Amino acid sequence: MRNKESVQLCIFDLDGVITDTAKYHYAAWRSISKELGYELTESANEKLKGVSRYQSLQQILIWAERSLSKEATEHLLDKKNKTYLNLIESLCPQDVLPGVKFFVEHLKENGIFVTIGSASKNANNILEKLNMMDDFDLVVDGHMVKHSKPNPEVFLLSCQAFDVAARHTVVFEDSYKGIGAARTAKMHVIGIGNPANLPEDVVVWESFEAKTIDDMIEGIKYS
Ligand code: BG6
Ligand code: MG
Repeated sequence: MRNKESVQLCIFDLDGVITDTAKYHYAAWRSISKELGYELTESANEKLKGVSRYQSLQQILIWAERSLSKEATEHLLDKKNKTYLNLIESLCPQDVLPGVKFFVEHLKENGIFVTIGSASKNANNILEKLNMMDDFDLVVDGHMVKHSKPNPEVFLLSCQAFDVAARHTVVFEDSYKGIGAARTAKMHVIGIGNPANLPEDVVVWESFEAKTIDDMIEGIKYS
């Protein structure tokens, strides 16, 4: 990818990219894990980022060496979501991560489609709280996909909607699984957050502050 004209679509993950809800998912899963007699560490939690609610619980059950009935599983999924919703109750526009709004506007002013590609079934609720519902051309969320990241389905739906090829698409992701999904689809990717938590061969931005399209082109040069 050589110039800015070749980027036609940017897909943003939500949790941990647009706002720091990843820490609330972790807190809620840690409390569920405790009930199962399992201590969910921060590094184990990295493997849950980008993964659907159901798949996350399945993974925790494997780590905890537990198995549950369908009813008990449903109960814990519901409990986790209620805990999570309580934690994000007071989420507001000030919780949008620094630079995100400006960068999204900058992309749109340059004719680039901007979408959300999130595994979360709470994505629309969160975007409403952040007052960002009108900022994206499309929101693809956990209700719209069958497969969890690293399956690229959640990103491919944006490409299909705007008829943009994967090679003209850039994904912004804070998780290993999400970066894997972008790579499987042969999309370009920029990591967001702490470089120590992400693959070494990805350019990682610690924040969107002061970032421009030129920075993005530079970041995806070798991806
Ligand atoms: C992803 C998060 O965005 O959404 C995961 O990284 C989370 O941690 C997943 O499990 C599903 O979210 P929700 O809101 O539908 O439980
Ligand atoms: Mg994320």
